[in-house]
Amino acid sequence: MNPVLEVDDVHKRFTLHLRDAMQLRVLDGVSLRVEAGECVALVGPSGRGKSTLMKCLHGNYAVDAGHLWLRLADGERVDLAAAAPRLIVSLRRREIAYVSQFLRVLPRQPAIDAVAERVIEAAQPAPQAQADPLDDSLQQAALDVAREQAGALFARLNLPRGLWSLPPATFSGGEQQRVNIARGFIVPARLLLLDEPTASLDEVNRRVVIGLIRDAKRRGSAIVGIFHDEEVRDAVADRRFDFTRA
Ligand SMILES: Nc1ncnc2c1ncn2[C@@H]1O[C@H](COP(=O)(O)OP(=O)(O)O)[C@@H](O)[C@H]1O
Ligand SMILES: [Mg+2]
Repeated sequence: MNPVLEVDDVHKRFTLHLRDAMQLRVLDGVSLRVEAGECVALVGPSGRGKSTLMKCLHGNYAVDAGHLWLRLADGERVDLAAAAPRLIVSLRRREIAYVSQFLRVLPRQPAIDAVAERVIEAAQPAPQAQADPLDDSLQQAALDVAREQAGALFARLNLPRGLWSLPPATFSGGEQQRVNIARGFIVPARLLLLDEPTASLDEVNRRVVIGLIRDAKRRGSAIVGIFHDEEVRDAVADRRFDFTRA
């Protein structure tokens, strides 16, 4: 099998400038492979680098050494550890999705558009081919379709319809998390990164998220997740990758 993701001997340390430049070795030779349709759960005590690996995979953090190979549809591999920021941004439009614990969206943007924009972005051609902008009526039609898809996902996640057109800033933690989940799942990603996606959800919505993760596996996403909720982890993870070290 050709894995979608190959984490190869990754090292990452933080320099704590407020503590006499003390070096904190967080990732010390991590290697991990994830196949299409597979979900690997990162486990281990808090503070061991699970979220740090996620942020490296999402391109937020650079690594000090090692490779993060992502295999694309054409079989080519890109090393996320060495990719230019512009390439990372473009990969995030359709290849890599990340559901973090915290929602970050544009201020005053309606919740439904925070999700619909992911569909629009994913459908955009590569930046160099963007010379010909869609005409207004086509753009409106594309937005209508994207909003319909976003609404269907909100309905599945039991997000009250009255909230759809409101900006999520004032939503409860669980409501914001569902907007975040919808943003992560609306476009089928090659690599799906889930950092505690169910932390503030009730039982019913945890089950919905389990269903969404299973659907994503069936569609061939490679998934790396951190799930403190054991029920969710047992329901979706094929394998555990342990960050505990002696
Ligand atoms: N940006 C950062 N700067 C300095 N230290 C950090 C940074 N991010 C994480 N750390 C430290 O790295 C360690 C691993 O953190 P993290 O990856 O969040 O752990 P986990 O997700 O396993 O709980 C912790 O000791 C944390 O304080
Ligand atoms: Mg964490």
